[in-house]
Amino acid sequence: MSSSKQVPRRNLSVKGLQAALADQLDLRLSGWEILGSVMVVSLDPGYSENEKTLIGETIVRLHPTAETVVNRMSIDDELREPVTEVIAGSKTESIHVENGCKYRIDPTKVMFSFGNKEERERMATVSSPNETVVDMFSCVGQFTLPLAKHSRPRKVYAVEKNPAAFQFLKENIVLNKLSNVDPLLGDCREVCPTGVADRVLMGYLFETERFLPTAIKALKKRGTLHYHFNCTEEKLEGKIQSVLKLASEHAASAKVSKTVKVKSYAPKMYHWVLDIDIEK
Ligand SMILES: C[S@@+](CC[C@H](N)C(=O)[O-])C[C@H]1O[C@@H](n2cnc3c(N)ncnc32)[C@H](O)[C@@H]1O
Repeated sequence: MSSSKQVPRRNLSVKGLQAALADQLDLRLSGWEILGSVMVVSLDPGYSENEKTLIGETIVRLHPTAETVVNRMSIDDELREPVTEVIAGSKTESIHVENGCKYRIDPTKVMFSFGNKEERERMATVSSPNETVVDMFSCVGQFTLPLAKHSRPRKVYAVEKNPAAFQFLKENIVLNKLSNVDPLLGDCREVCPTGVADRVLMGYLFETERFLPTAIKALKKRGTLHYHFNCTEEKLEGKIQSVLKLASEHAASAKVSKTVKVKSYAPKMYHWVLDIDIEK
């Protein structure tokens, strides 16, 4: 199958793709993410196999760098394992370059969120050479790599429970020539070091409060938590107060120094990060 309209490869946008396919089908697609040579799309359900192949092959033909197209149908909460299908091409692993870091990644095995790009950039600059950092939910190194590379802390302990993500994390530490990162496989509540950290990254969105006691234990006498969660605007203040109340059950004081709105997560629901200064 091939589409009929010609669109220059260098100018391809979602709208351009919709126009290229307009004679054959109505493309319902809110956006796409390009990871190296792999394009990740989330198509509305209901397309036939032939239609999905047409969409995938048209993207490969018109997009400047896409060689493979992966349709992501869903993603589970805990280990962020995606359910996907390849609709064009075959090689699903590639190298995504962002903010001077190389991420080897396979979006059929692990998740990489484009909406968190600004937070990844912020994490690149928050630390300093005297710090020790614990990243409790490292995945393939989304925060660990830019932080370790650009802020140059003494050590980053990068914890990850999903073995597939952990394998990419280890490869990415080597790929980026980082000698200040120790990867740790397992549940952060069991494998996090204690009493070592100036800064703890809690980049996880589901009942993050379950991990707060572990995060505080990982800190030295004082330090900073980067606490991620999902919440509506209306419930934000109440949520902040409940996180601080829980933190103060495990520390002498807990104060929010910064609140960051990372991205829209669902209708009226946002991904937030609190920077919380802790004294034990
Ligand atoms: C959504 S990713 C977040 C990656 C990165 N922190 C970010 O925010 O972009 C969350 C990661 O936490 C891992 N994870 C979930 N529960 C965990 C646990 N109890 N201990 C360690 N890692 C865990 C998942 O496997 C997944 O790779």
